[in-house]
Amino acid sequence: MDTKSILITGCSSGIGLCTAKRLKQDGYRVFATARKQQDVDMLAEQGFESFLLDYANSNSIQDCVQKVLAATGGTLYALFNNGAYGQPGAVEDLTRQVLHEQFENNFFGWHELTNLVIPVMRKQGYGRIIQNSSILGLVAMPMRGAYNASKYAIEGLNDTLRLELHGSHIFVSMIEPGPIESQFRANAALYFKKNIDTNNSPFKDRYTQLLNKLETQGPVVPFTLPADSVYKKVTRILTAKKPKAHYYVTFPTYLFGYLKRLLPTQVLDFLLGKV
Ligand SMILES: NC(=O)c1ccc[n+]([C@@H]2O[C@H](COP(=O)([O-])OP(=O)(O)OC[C@H]3O[C@@H](n4cnc5c(N)ncnc54)[C@H](OP(=O)(O)O)[C@@H]3O)[C@@H](O)[C@H]2O)c1
Repeated sequence: MDTKSILITGCSSGIGLCTAKRLKQDGYRVFATARKQQDVDMLAEQGFESFLLDYANSNSIQDCVQKVLAATGGTLYALFNNGAYGQPGAVEDLTRQVLHEQFENNFFGWHELTNLVIPVMRKQGYGRIIQNSSILGLVAMPMRGAYNASKYAIEGLNDTLRLELHGSHIFVSMIEPGPIESQFRANAALYFKKNIDTNNSPFKDRYTQLLNKLETQGPVVPFTLPADSVYKKVTRILTAKKPKAHYYVTFPTYLFGYLKRLLPTQVLDFLLGKV
């Protein structure tokens, strides 16, 4: 029985790359995937079994799963849905197309990959599905509507999936990181510049500050943690007999996760507007 294989998405940088490296060191058989060939080559050079997987491309998802299953003889212990990006911008400045793309990458692709893996796990009688959600899957922030919506959607879908998989020995867990050191902000800046018409927006002035923050190197938010703080939760999920549904990472997640349950919406909105 192969109890140690894991498929990870979005391993070109940040949390995915860190988790892939650390789990490989721990002895897991890691299938480290990325959406660009140059990153697949980089991962292969580092000794990973690496394949292309772009959530926005169904063929790449199906090809990747086939290759992984061919390599393992048809089993997979765990899936870590991790690859995603943040599309910044006020809700009224998001076109339908831009929001659609955010969901293709952060939501529909995750669902398609998960659905390809569930039958494998049902057949073998065990499995772990780990979704890298976010503090922004729990609470909202201004200028983060597209990303917020995609992470809320993942939370909702997986709350249902968890109920449906009850008793199957397949466990679905969501990790809720707050600010983590990675390429996330730099990548978000690229999507912001590509997709938001700042000149014709009522938020024009605010966008200047937003872009400065996105393009600042290094941590700009207090309580930012390194990427291996997420790896530590992944390991707990992989080794727990019965993993939990939610794993918080960083102080802001604990704080706002708690305040959301405690405070009236008006008060929480006031606080979130200040963050
Ligand atoms: N950093 C944070 O503060 C933070 C907080 C909460 C949650 N998260 C979550 O953590 C996860 C990893 O982000 P990160 O912080 O490590 O940022 P990152 O360094 O930007 O890494 C994101 C990874 O996702 C990949 N990706 C983007 N779109 C993809 C697609 N369509 N198909 C496959 N892979 C795709 C990126 O590939 P490319 O290099 O090709 O773009 C990259 O490998 C994300 O789900 C994010 O929402 C991050």
